[in-house]
Amino acid sequence: MLGDALSGALNGGEIDGHGSERRSGLSFIVGSIGLAHIKHLLIVYHTQTGNTRAMAGAVRDGATDSLIEEVETRFLMARDAGPDDLLWANGVLLGTPENFGYMSGAMKDFLDRTFYPVEGRIAPLPCGIFISAGNDGSGALRAMRRIIGGYPLSEVQEPVIAQGAVLPEHLQACRDLGMALAAGLEAGIY
Ligand SMILES: Cc1cc2nc3c(=O)[nH]c(=O)nc-3n(C[C@H](O)[C@H](O)[C@H](O)COP(=O)(O)O)c2cc1C
Repeated sequence: MLGDALSGALNGGEIDGHGSERRSGLSFIVGSIGLAHIKHLLIVYHTQTGNTRAMAGAVRDGATDSLIEEVETRFLMARDAGPDDLLWANGVLLGTPENFGYMSGAMKDFLDRTFYPVEGRIAPLPCGIFISAGNDGSGALRAMRRIIGGYPLSEVQEPVIAQGAVLPEHLQACRDLGMALAAGLEAGIY
């Protein structure tokens, strides 16, 4: 990173006995300027039988691809995610199974729990959706979009919907989704 390169040049890249770089106050400040470029991508998903988990893993793989250098990813099940995660995030990827023609209860609970605590505190965040469904997925997508419309979230990528078994092409689409959002954040497009 630019910050590291500058700090090395200014500091002479002093190495301690453990092989770690010892940083002067100046190099710490310069390094921190570099860190200011880091964007935060939050991946929140729910799963009951593992299909959405597999998709979420592929989304994370894309977002953490070696081409992506300045995006930090947080990967959480919906029940473990809360308002602080949304306040931390610069972008969000949400994954849910379709249950009874809707998003899963846990994903709805996450959105319910976090709505008031983050209201007015986050700018509209770029967002993407992935869904695992037995044979449909349209109800879950409709419900997610309806809530996202009332949230400070803005869908910036096409959703990925896997109907039936999660196939390699679904996982590839999920990797692409994760990488597209991360790359867009890194490039300052979102
Ligand atoms: C309670 C329940 C309700 C479901 N309702 C739907 C539905 O309305 N439409 C559909 O296409 N699949 C439905 N399914 C199938 C799941 O969406 C599908 O098995 C999905 O892959 C599960 O994802 P998971 O393994 O991440 O839990 C339902 C499954 C359960 C357990």
